[in-house]
Formats: sequence, C-alpha cells, structure tokens
Amino acid sequence: MVDTLNIDINKTAKSRIQEVDFTNIPFGKVYSDHMFVADFEGGQWKNFRIKPYEPLQLSPANATLHYGQSVFEGMKAYKNEAGEVLVFRPKANFLRLNKSAERMCIPQISEEMFMQGLDELLKLDQDWVPDLPNTSLYIRPFIFAADDYIGIRPSDTYRFMIFTCPVGAYYSEPVKVKIETKYSRAAAGGTGAAKAAGNYAGSLYPAMQAHKQGYHQLIWTDALTHQYIEESGTMNVMFVIGDTLLTSPAGDTILAGITRDSVLTLAREWGYKVEERKVSVKEVMEAIEAGTLKEAFGTGTAATIAQIAVIGHEGKDHTLPAVEGREFSNRVLKSLDEIKTGRAEDKWNWVHKF
Ligand SMILES: Cc1ncc(COP(=O)(O)O)c(C=O)c1O
Repeated sequence: MVDTLNIDINKTAKSRIQEVDFTNIPFGKVYSDHMFVADFEGGQWKNFRIKPYEPLQLSPANATLHYGQSVFEGMKAYKNEAGEVLVFRPKANFLRLNKSAERMCIPQISEEMFMQGLDELLKLDQDWVPDLPNTSLYIRPFIFAADDYIGIRPSDTYRFMIFTCPVGAYYSEPVKVKIETKYSRAAAGGTGAAKAAGNYAGSLYPAMQAHKQGYHQLIWTDALTHQYIEESGTMNVMFVIGDTLLTSPAGDTILAGITRDSVLTLAREWGYKVEERKVSVKEVMEAIEAGTLKEAFGTGTAATIAQIAVIGHEGKDHTLPAVEGREFSNRVLKSLDEIKTGRAEDKWNWVHKF
C-alpha cells in the first residue's frame, strides 16, 4: 500500500509566470513558482512542504558547501494534446537518486515522498509546463547534507528538494566534441556511477579548456589508459558503425543514463543490432577513416539526442556524415518525442501522469 504523504502547501501570493517569454526560454535560468521540500532529522524524513520558490538560508559551515555531500537528478515533463502533464520515466530517476545517495552516504528516500512531492508540485505549477516544440519543464530533485559542521563525516541532517524550470533546447546546433585524453571524469571505484555534485565540479576545468579550443563538449575516456570512450558531459555517447549501434557499458565509471536505456530499448524493438561493450578511440577513428561511422550522438535528459557533427582527436578535427542522413538517431529522436508528448503508444509505461 502506498502511504499518502501529508504535504503542507503554501501557495505564492503572486505568480511570476507573466514575466516569462515561453517562445524564448534560456536553459536553466527561469524557475517556476513553487518548490517541494523535506527534511531528514532524527533518522527520518519529515516536514513535507511546498512553498514559493525562494533562496535558501544556509550556515557558512553547511557541510555540502565544503565537502559536496550532495546528489541530484534531472528529468522532464511535457504536455500532451489535451494539455495534461506527462513526466518521462520519473521512477527511473527515483531509483537512480537512491543509488547515488547510497554511494554518497545520504539516506534513502521513499518512492511516496519522491512521487507525491513531484505530483503535488506539478499540479500546482502545471501552467509552467511549456507546450511549444522543443520545450519542456526540466525537473531538478536533489538531496544535500544540511549539518552545520566542518568535520568530515556523513551529515546527520539532509534536505530533499524539487524545483522546476521551463526550458528550451539545450544545444541549438549539432555539437563539436573533443576526445579528452589527459583529464578524467571518473575512475574505477570512484563516484562516476553516481549523480554526485562533485563529479560535475571536477569536469569543469577540462571542459573549459575544450571550450577555448572551440568545442562544445568533451568525450571522456577511461582514466587508466585513455583508450576507451566513456561518456560526454551530461550525456552518454552512441555510434552507428556499419549496421551496429554501439555504446560503452554503463557501470562503475559511466552514468546509467535513462535516455540511453530508452534509446537502446527502442533500437532493440526495431531490430537494430545493438552492442553494449567497451568502445575504443582507435575503433572510432578507424571507422571515421574507413567511412563506416554513420552516426555519432549523445543521449541525455537535457539534450535528448545531441547530434555530434565533429570529433576532435589529437589536434585533428574529423567531420562526420551530415545530420540529415542519419537514419537511426533522427528516427529515435522523433519517436522519443512522440512518446514523451503522448502522441505515440507508450509500450513500456514510461510516461507518468498525475
Ligand atoms: C554524467 C552524465 N552522463 C549521462 C547522463 C544522461 O543521463 P539521462 O539520460 O538519465 O539524463 C547525465 C544526465 O543525467 C549525466 O549527468
């Protein structure tokens, strides 16, 4: 039986929605009216509440600020033709948040807290879910250490929050990426499989170096040999080489992307040859050289399918086949879009409606 959460709801006196130009929304800068909050104190989650979106008051000694004991998720909501709100695979995000939390010594949250907090928040802010093409409501659940204590140990108190922001496209064009062979995102036994805040801080410096060289993003390679492709920024990476869809196995150092799983599920359903195995840089370079690399793209909630136009490696840029001719990734992008917005059959029960 699912327990009903007792959520205290305090609505904003004045919505900010009129201030938003939904035809031109920057990614991640506009926040909806409300947020869901819960506290972990005395060994349990309590004080479930929805309140107007507002800044937090934190002690300078807040543990998260110093040691990064914090995990997060990212998912999206869309509107169907009837104007109902559809959230794409939130249960998968809930499960992954708990997996990340375990790795970072953060207490588990219940499915009721995650789903009911989400549903109530979306009911209140449903007008913030955009319905124009390439727009959606990005949803950010996260948990952070709340102790005011600068000794290093797991915090005794935590806060779980969800806020949302209407967003437009993450990338406005096919991306130029550089294969990173010096720095690493994650090492075996590290925190790469968790959506832990610090992973992203550590990735900024190498990404900034690549930006200066004109690349949008990096493709990370394994920390030990730099010979195998891992993932890219906030995306998993896939290639179509010959007639095979190829991607590195999610695991210790690679985040198990939910878009990745959805794309692989559709590919298998459509009868494509799919291989989840280590993909070497050499193999990709040789396929580009031989003309057998047909498609390369990133998969992630923020970008959905980000076409890769150019791959830089060891100082040389390799231009990939034109995006228009890419059969698989264009098909999967269209299909995912139709499922998410309720225009195609939801065979795997991916879409959640409150
Ligand atoms: C490091 C990393 N890899 C891959 C992904 C893609 O995962 P998903 O498809 O669940 O958004 C993300 C985004 O969540 C990420 O942060």
